[in-house]
Amino acid sequence: MQTLTITKPDDFHLHLRDGVVLANIVNHTAAQFARAIVMPNLKPPVVNTEMALAYRDRILQCVDKKYNFEPLMTLYLTDNTSTEVIMEAAESNMIKALKYYPAGATTNSDQGVTDISKTYSTLEAMMEKGLPLLVHGEVTDNDVDVFDRESVFIDRVLAPLVRNFPDLKIVFEHITTRAAVDFVTQSSNNIAATITPQHMLLNRNDLFKGGLQPHHYCLPVLKAEADRLAVLEAATSGNSKFFLGTDSAPHARNTKETSCGCAGIYSAYAAIEMYVEAFDAADKLDKLEAFSSHYGADYYGLPRNQEMITLIKQDQTIPAILPLGDNELVPFLAGGTCSWQLKN
Ligand code: NCD
Ligand code: ZN
Repeated sequence: MQTLTITKPDDFHLHLRDGVVLANIVNHTAAQFARAIVMPNLKPPVVNTEMALAYRDRILQCVDKKYNFEPLMTLYLTDNTSTEVIMEAAESNMIKALKYYPAGATTNSDQGVTDISKTYSTLEAMMEKGLPLLVHGEVTDNDVDVFDRESVFIDRVLAPLVRNFPDLKIVFEHITTRAAVDFVTQSSNNIAATITPQHMLLNRNDLFKGGLQPHHYCLPVLKAEADRLAVLEAATSGNSKFFLGTDSAPHARNTKETSCGCAGIYSAYAAIEMYVEAFDAADKLDKLEAFSSHYGADYYGLPRNQEMITLIKQDQTIPAILPLGDNELVPFLAGGTCSWQLKN
């Protein structure tokens, strides 16, 4: 039987939510990943170190004692994030980055940034302290086609931002397009990107295959096949600017299977296996470990994990439904098979 042993991976983009949802899902991630960059888009958002440390405690309370999981905390950037907040975050050593959501771009982004130029003094302080800015790279303008929002964001927002703050570390999160791959590849080493399993495995046809597929809807939305191939090629290229970030985001089944469904795909249940599947299909298994377990840690200045994990090439069925409080969660590829399995 084919096996693959790699350094334990980290997830550099994860939504854990709070309360009962957090309790239901966090151990899926803890079973696979050593660390995760935890997104701050709670209600209300995590906007300062005190809130982040309290959130971190709530996460750790829900982690099964058998796992040695470390949540890496982030703050939510708003128009009003002060330089004091940045100084305090940097001094704490517990805040690893700030997340920039353009206001209205995605789930719980209503308190996001309305105009990035309003945050310039904050960004200056982050640059000084070496705190990375994590970017949800989509414009929100209604007159911009939803499939073009990432590439338009590069031209209108990201390229000028990189020019104005050449020393600011920026992670272009969950990239979906050839334009994003090219932009990151051609930028300095301060610019990196995370890649999700869904953007490696699916294209926009999968949103409509046999009917509308709400569980394939996330933001940024799935793109055309040529873009999927560009993202897959970037992930499997061995370029250290591209690393693993699932963007796993749980939404209750009834909020997705409804007349106005939420954006978000829950991949944490079998995330590492899904990446292995994508790398295997591309015949690039030799490039997986660096992407999943080295490059992200190196970019964030964290030590690489010591522990190893082993994956076996053996079919597993992804459950159709998982519990989520009083509700249900439909995981990514629900009811389907994944040809790899994590060995416990
Ligand atoms: C994320 C969520 O649900 O919090 N949704 C998504 O579609 N990716 C937010 C985000 O990362 O955009
Ligand atoms: Zn996200």
